[in-house]
Order: sequence, then structure tokens, then C-alpha cells
Amino acid sequence: MTHSKRIVVGIAGGIAAYKSAMLVSRLVQSGQSVSVVMTTSATQFVGAATFSALTGSAPVIDPFDPRFPLGPHIELAQNCKLMIVAPATARIIASCSLGLANDLLSTLYLNMECPVLFAPAMSAAMWDNPAVQRNIQQLQKDGGHLVGPESGWLSCRRVGLGRMSEPEAILQACKPWLE
Ligand SMILES: Cc1cc2nc3c(=O)[nH]c(=O)nc-3n(C[C@H](O)[C@H](O)[C@H](O)COP(=O)(O)O)c2cc1C
Repeated sequence: MTHSKRIVVGIAGGIAAYKSAMLVSRLVQSGQSVSVVMTTSATQFVGAATFSALTGSAPVIDPFDPRFPLGPHIELAQNCKLMIVAPATARIIASCSLGLANDLLSTLYLNMECPVLFAPAMSAAMWDNPAVQRNIQQLQKDGGHLVGPESGWLSCRRVGLGRMSEPEAILQACKPWLE
């Protein structure tokens, strides 16, 4: 069964983007209609072809993508039940918390009327930085939801807090909004 309202998965430029392929696959397998939005940096970490195949539709990267005459920041927010940002980089967290609208993903965020779940991923030093913590607090104050980060092995070759939650944990966190 395919559900009528879509889920938008926003993928930002962190090494954990490879885990988001599994997240998207699991959502699609459970019958969800999924649209993927990638930042330009995200395309350095995982290929657009992966998400085209997993969702049946090319991920949206270009804010002027001609498939969306009204703009993808408008059309993707329509009929949407949940937005997941995974991995949520320090950069996208900052842009969203400030309402900067300086790329497609952060502009789409401002248009979203559905719940938004962020799965942060970054080095422990970045996560501990007061600027990042301030932005996270602002996102939560604005009604944003958070899953993770977890403590564990980080791609900077250290163990610490900043690892993106596993796809299974993100799916669990989505449950209240999936029907
Ligand atoms: C190998 C590598 C790994 C990175 N991993 C992360 C990460 O996990 N989290 C993060 O916030 N930034 C990470 N960065 C930095 C981001 O890619 C950079 O801040 C970028 O501008 C983020 O853009 P975006 O938020 O538009 O995707 C990484 C950069 C490199 C080169």
C-alpha cells in the first residue's frame, strides 16, 4: 500500500549520508512515498543515482529544477507529512535555525507545515561547539525534533558524541508521524 502524503528526506554533506540510503530504502519498502532533496555537498558523499533508484525519482538538488514550475521549495512542502534531515550537518542546522533560506533544503524547511526531524552528524568537537548547541536549542524551541546524535566511532578517527543515529533508530523516531 502506498501512503498518499509524502516524506521528504533531506540529505546534507556528511559522511553519514551513506546511511541515509538505507533509511530511504526502508521507508520506501514500508510503502511510504519518499522525495529526496540533496545539498550540493551531499552529492560528494553519495550518488544521486542511488536515490533515483531507491525512490523511483531523481533527487532534487537544483533549486530551479524544471520539474517544479512553482519551485521545489514550494511543491515539495505540499502534501508532506514529515521532513527528515539526515545527516543534518552543522551548516544546515545553522541555516535552518536562523531561517536563512540560502539553499534549497533550508528554504524548503521554512515552507514545511509538517513535523521536521533532524538527525545531526558531525565531529564531537563540532557538536560540543557552543554555536552548534545554540542552533540546536533554537531549532527545538521552534518545534523541530531531534534524533541523536549517538556516541561512537566518528569518521575523524575518534570515539565521541556526534555519530548519526542508525537508520533503525531514525525510523523508530519517525513512528509517531507515519501511518
Ligand atoms: C570528508 C568530510 C566529511 C564531513 N563530514 C561532516 C559531518 O559529518 N558533519 C558536518 O556538519 N560537516 C561535515 N563536513 C563538512 C561539510 O561537508 C561542509 O560544512 C559543507 O559545507 C556542508 O554543506 P551542506 O550542509 O550544504 O551539505 C565534512 C566534510 C568532509 C570533507
